[in-house]
Amino acid sequence: MPAIEVEGLKKNYGELQAVDGISFSVEKGEVFSLLGPNGAGKTTTIEILEGLRQKGGGTTTVLDMDPWSKGYDLHKRIGVIPQGFKFLDYPTPREAIVYYGVLFGKKVDPDELLRRVILEDAANIWFQHLSGGQKQKLGMALSLVNDPEVVFLDEPTTGLDPQARRAVWEVIRKLKTEGRTVMLTTHYLEEAEELADRVAIMDHGKIVAMGTTEEIESKYGSGQRMIVKSKGDLLKYLKENTKLEVEGEGGSVTIILRDKADAFVALGAIQESGVDWGDLTIRRDSLEDVFLKLVGEEGRSEKEGA
Ligand SMILES: Nc1ncnc2c1ncn2[C@@H]1O[C@H](COP(=O)(O)OP(=O)(O)OP(=O)(O)O)[C@@H](O)[C@H]1O
Ligand SMILES: [Mg+2]
Repeated sequence: MPAIEVEGLKKNYGELQAVDGISFSVEKGEVFSLLGPNGAGKTTTIEILEGLRQKGGGTTTVLDMDPWSKGYDLHKRIGVIPQGFKFLDYPTPREAIVYYGVLFGKKVDPDELLRRVILEDAANIWFQHLSGGQKQKLGMALSLVNDPEVVFLDEPTTGLDPQARRAVWEVIRKLKTEGRTVMLTTHYLEEAEELADRVAIMDHGKIVAMGTTEEIESKYGSGQRMIVKSKGDLLKYLKENTKLEVEGEGGSVTIILRDKADAFVALGAIQESGVDWGDLTIRRDSLEDVFLKLVGEEGRSEKEGA
């Protein structure tokens, strides 16, 4: 039985169809990431699964329960960090954890939880004085007080510096090794690549791509390309002297590698050209490239024009 099952989920706010018939399931122990531009419908989806918003249509099951009608039972078994997590100004992280423990009727060891999210140093500082990263880490700690089976993290690393972000990644990795299910939204695509077993890209309330990052990159991305910086007219030379597929702008030539042999042909031709060149890289579309293709301005105007 999957931890989360969603079938044909819909939610509208008046005229706006914020979630438009999406389906997916998340296995137990899986880290699943919802990606998408601002307003795509991620928070709406997550909050329906948390039992905080009522769905408009379709079916949703979390730990075999309907989140809206069984919210009370479900909340004991899930952990949540809402988008833009905030708390009261005066409690310290230690006090906040004890307080949450009382609310959930759980015996908690605040020091153990603070250690887990790497917040021991700020255990006794008022919430209002914590840095952005420390606040987010407290959010993580509070979401874990009730030893949840499923953890919903809505943009847990937004606004954090790279070090603090990596500290949150460590916590998320640990959640996975403990067998917990994690549903994560993020605008940092490398974060999804790093942490998620599978991702779903949402746009205008619909899922436009879903799978492992490798699956998405190979399905929607272009193949390997060799990119060479050149001071002379390498582009012209390659066009005139080879059958390679080439394009270029501003001193950078891109050679599409249709197969491995193209790489050798390209290198040989670059050498023979006598043109001054440097900075050679081979790359394929990253998740970010694919994301921009699917939901970026280009993709959007194509879709809207269609
Ligand atoms: N309570 C509400 N009433 C009216 N419209 C809403 C409400 N909540 C969300 N919306 C709208 O629904 C759409 C989806 O919002 P949602 O917060 O789910 O997006 P998101 O993908 O989480 O975006 P972000 O990346 O900015 O957090 C947006 O256009 C938003 O303005
Ligand atoms: Mg959101």
